[in-house]
Amino acid sequence: MDSIAIIDFGSQYAQLIARRVREARVYCELFHFDAPSETVLATNPRGFILSGGPASVYDQGAPRIPEYVLQSDLPILGICYGMQALTYTLGGVVAQASEREYGQALLEVIQPDPLIPPGEHVVWMSHGDRIEQVPAGFEVLARSENSPIAAMVDRSHRRYGIQFHPEVQHTPTGARMLKAFVVDICGAVPEWVPSSIVEQAVSRVRKQVGHDRVLAGVSGGVDSSVAAALVQRAIGNQLECIFVNNGLLRRGEAEAVIETFSETLGVKLHAIDASETFLDALAGVTDPELKRRVIGEKFIRVFEGEAARLGDFHFLVQGTIYPDVVESNTPDRQQANRIKTHHNVGGLPDDMGFELIEPLRKLFKDEVRAVGRELGLSEAIITRQPFPGPGLAVRCLGEVTFERLDRLRRADQIVREELGANQTTPESPVDDGLRPKPSIAQAFAVLLPVRSVGVMGDQRTYAEVVAIRAVTTEDFMTADWARIDPVLLARMSSRIVNQVAGVNRVVYDITSKPPGTIEWE
Ligand code: XMP
Repeated sequence: MDSIAIIDFGSQYAQLIARRVREARVYCELFHFDAPSETVLATNPRGFILSGGPASVYDQGAPRIPEYVLQSDLPILGICYGMQALTYTLGGVVAQASEREYGQALLEVIQPDPLIPPGEHVVWMSHGDRIEQVPAGFEVLARSENSPIAAMVDRSHRRYGIQFHPEVQHTPTGARMLKAFVVDICGAVPEWVPSSIVEQAVSRVRKQVGHDRVLAGVSGGVDSSVAAALVQRAIGNQLECIFVNNGLLRRGEAEAVIETFSETLGVKLHAIDASETFLDALAGVTDPELKRRVIGEKFIRVFEGEAARLGDFHFLVQGTIYPDVVESNTPDRQQANRIKTHHNVGGLPDDMGFELIEPLRKLFKDEVRAVGRELGLSEAIITRQPFPGPGLAVRCLGEVTFERLDRLRRADQIVREELGANQTTPESPVDDGLRPKPSIAQAFAVLLPVRSVGVMGDQRTYAEVVAIRAVTTEDFMTADWARIDPVLLARMSSRIVNQVAGVNRVVYDITSKPPGTIEWE
């Protein structure tokens, strides 16, 4: 399949460039600017996109365009810093600007070209340096008020430079330009569609696995479900799935997982009800970190026990997705990544001795969902909100008991029912800071270890408190509390107090992240 290589000079928008190219149905991959040439060329690129980045070409140690890119004779599109690096390398003049140009600008097309349709375009600028003189062989394509050379081309080599960012939504015609580059100029065939993604993944899994047996852990989450369904499509009954019900799931969830996998997908599923084991281990535990540790360790032990009982497996399926891969390869994101690793309680360690199968490793979240639909998974699974590995234990503050979990489950169900079972999930894993406000990304109930006085009928009550948490976010790293309609909040509150025994007060959490977190523990 044709592909485009995106050379990343440290742009905060690199993942967005990749997403726009994929939306044009052309496969692409992101590479750090000093990735080995063999790795990049092995993806069979039909062209290169050079990303923006924070450096100036005059900085000491500023990233340079790799040799193999210039030697390849393939089309090149330099965006922002990519354009400056191209200009600098090919002998043009880059001027250090006294001030940054940041925000929207009007692009005036000087010469028509397949990349930029004629007329005027609103574009997003974010740069310091600018091009003062194009290199030999280049012509100016467009200008803006502050950038006399806002776009340039060397037609004989099919090399382009643009000063603005076509990948962000504040450049409304940017997606069209990127599509024109990859499809019309590079000639990449737009065949990156769910059916071909499935086809490719299926043949890769078959090749990797041969006749061996494969094990997968499923939790009902989007990634693990789609990964398992994909492997099942590839190798059928060579795949066996383990589902550990830790007793910390939401109402109806364990049943839904069993039904989807066993009945809808026909997967060989081993469902283990380990609720009592987990709750016994949690008896008396109130410290949030200890809860996570106890649950994480128990999960691994139960999973290992079941796997050993089932016999010998060489392979294990993991639902790793592309943003995880990209982020763990980027040095300045490693801190953020560590935060997530600590969160990854409820997963399996890397050193269990299995060879990993990661069929979603190159897919963005929205592509994972599209593949899930292609494979026939239900909307309930595909649009499911994130749910922490330690489950309701981290939403049941204080001690986790059967009785308190039951209370929390009832309250949580009311919150979900009132908001509508499947709220929109954000499609973008990358926050370009320019999108319209997203809808609720996660909403749930939290049971607090506090009792307060109330009055019901003529009776004094002394019962527990439920907090409702609902957030809007694009990437779950930062979040804002959702401005839920007070009428809806009133209905939730009234239903919870009336229908959930042991609860007489409901509060709404109005803390953003930071300084709060989305979960309470
Ligand atoms: P916080 O509470 O840190 O959560 O704002 C950010 C996102 O991560 C989810 N989360 C987890 N996911 N295992 C997971 O797979 C975990 O242990 C875990 N803890 C939190 C949380 O629901 C939110 O979406």
